[in-house]
Amino acid sequence: HIPEPCALVIFGVTGDLARKKLIPAVYDLANRGQLPAAFVILGFARRDWDHGEFEELARDAAKAHARTPWREDVWNRLAGNFKFVPGSFDDDAAFDTLSATLDELRDTHAIPGNAAFYFSIPPGAFPTVLRQLERTGAADNSVSGGWRRVVVEKPFGNDLESARELDDVVDDVFTAEDVFRIDHYLGKETVQNIMALRFANALFEPVWNSHYVDSVQLTMAEDVGIGSRAGFYDSAGAARDVLQNHLLQLLALTAMEEPVGYAADEIRTEKLKVLRAITLPEDLETYAVRGQYSEGWVAGEKVRGYLAEDNIADGSTTETFVAVKLGVQNRRWAGVPFYLRTGKRLPRRVTEIAVVFKRAPHLPFHDYDTETLGQNQLVIRVQPDEGITVKFGSKVPGTGMELRDISMDFHYGEAFTESSPEAYERLIRDVLLGDKTLFPDAAEVEASWAVIDPLEEFWAGRKPSPYPAGTWGPQAAENMMDIDDRSWRRA
Ligand code: BG6
Repeated sequence: HIPEPCALVIFGVTGDLARKKLIPAVYDLANRGQLPAAFVILGFARRDWDHGEFEELARDAAKAHARTPWREDVWNRLAGNFKFVPGSFDDDAAFDTLSATLDELRDTHAIPGNAAFYFSIPPGAFPTVLRQLERTGAADNSVSGGWRRVVVEKPFGNDLESARELDDVVDDVFTAEDVFRIDHYLGKETVQNIMALRFANALFEPVWNSHYVDSVQLTMAEDVGIGSRAGFYDSAGAARDVLQNHLLQLLALTAMEEPVGYAADEIRTEKLKVLRAITLPEDLETYAVRGQYSEGWVAGEKVRGYLAEDNIADGSTTETFVAVKLGVQNRRWAGVPFYLRTGKRLPRRVTEIAVVFKRAPHLPFHDYDTETLGQNQLVIRVQPDEGITVKFGSKVPGTGMELRDISMDFHYGEAFTESSPEAYERLIRDVLLGDKTLFPDAAEVEASWAVIDPLEEFWAGRKPSPYPAGTWGPQAAENMMDIDDRSWRRA
């Protein structure tokens, strides 16, 4: 499938996300021949640039961050199609220009009104931009004659109430089917594979429930700090930045029932049921841990603490680490704890989902040492070492009957020669094709906030526990596992 001729409008095109992900993704799509011949990238930002300067920036960004090899001829074909509209979000004239520019594409580029608006901007600015698009008619399919879609980056709102308010504005301006809420984890190959693993095979599903599963651990660890995103991060924190979206989506895919089919609404129906079945433990003191990194060492390098990072408010109580224990109250999962954790400045970058199985009900090896035998685990290695690991006990070769844990590994790089598209590449393509399978809808986003709100309420006014950069978070995160007689997988 190749998308119809269209324009991609990026708001916030000078930002980190546009430079590191969006523009490189567009180049990768061009390189793989997945863009229509008539395609325009329109940047909007508060800079005094002309089309040429924008193209220069885009070129540097694509060269530095694209996944596919650099090809001058591919870029040159794309290069004539960069347009830039300078302006701020409350600047009516700039939005009039934007709208007129889109209309002109019909004659200049044979693009019949199709445009996707990508909001790579602070969430606070969403309503203003939406209203501008409404005012100028740029959001209106019937006026434009083609399709008009909007892509909003997370976090969508700051809590349930603000997400609902935002939904109201979005619904006012766009029809629901034209709204794409991005959670880029859903664009990752390994995340899409969760459904394949579970529902394309006979082997795993029979044991994928509380009869056999002891607990599930979801980890998204990063070794980086907050980089240059202090402004956003300090007002959000790890729970809003990652737990509300990426981790809860991973949980939903891991726990959901088999969907009727592989269509957007069929998958969302099942994910939503899980999200709505999530419960928090009563003892939040023990099972809802917040941390903030202090000075420490990461990969042999001394790094400063969160409070010493540039542009962080004095005495900020924003968390850079969260660990929580959640339940999923339905027949399949009742009684199975889901432990979720995420953090910045942890020892290394790793995202994985570990399904930990109960111990065998009985071991016939009475005379032998089985103390060291762990629990069976199925680990979905989301990144960076993409694949799946199954951990189980095995006989150690020899004349005795010694048992030891071993693992069986599937590595993408070994099993496939195909290269996988970067998450944003996949998702931008889906937006242009109008395929919403990999996008959470409003109800999912709201159900996720309903999980986060009581946590934020509990944390309000409390200080996060400090942890030295380069460690696996505060001691309290270990304690919550100790109390349950479990331990975090050392990923
Ligand atoms: C983003 C968060 O959504 O995901 C960032 O806002 C985080 O804080 C990033 O660093 C991680 O994405 P990835 O794909 O590198 O795991």
